[in-house]
Amino acid sequence: MGDIQPELVPLLGEEEIRSAVSRLAEEIQRDYRDKNPLLIGILKGSFIFLADLIRNLDIPLEVDFIRLASYGTGTSTSGKVTLVHDIPISIADRHVLVVEDIVDTGLTTCYLLDYLRNKAPASLKLCALIDKPSRRQVPVKIDYLGFSIPDRFIVGYGIDWREHYRNLPDIRYVKES
Ligand code: IMP
Ligand code: MG
Repeated sequence: MGDIQPELVPLLGEEEIRSAVSRLAEEIQRDYRDKNPLLIGILKGSFIFLADLIRNLDIPLEVDFIRLASYGTGTSTSGKVTLVHDIPISIADRHVLVVEDIVDTGLTTCYLLDYLRNKAPASLKLCALIDKPSRRQVPVKIDYLGFSIPDRFIVGYGIDWREHYRNLPDIRYVKES
């Protein structure tokens, strides 16, 4: 991956993540029983979180994915969001739950929620594993939240730095040098 290898510091351990995911699943299960929700994962960062989340959900549900691009290759946002891959089905009258890895500036989530809201779902909510409230540029309501963390660039559990480290089982942050 080139010559720069960032130093990684443990932030959220596997067990801590597991129990947060199970707590979120309990809340979601309680709210979405008999609603056959459509969970929309935002690629690529949410794929592991979504996979673990749905295996904790014992209710009828459907899964789809949207791919957005908001970041370049580094650790700073480009501020511009583009839709790279849309869902192929209608969400009109569906109970939609967006599953996101991180809400940072909020630009990505805000853009996506506006986009989906225009398609007239029966309900639209947001589940995020990580919130970085100090970085927010636009307000975002997170209905189901795993962790709130300080302004750190994190990797692991599906989340990348320059497309690497998604395979780490826990979450670590990049130490500023
Ligand atoms: P936002 O539009 O600034 O809220 O950025 C949201 C997206 O940026 C997330 O879905 C991530 O893909 C990415 N992102 C934000 N913070 C981090 C981080 O600490 N590590 C890796 N990706 C991040
Ligand atoms: Mg990303």
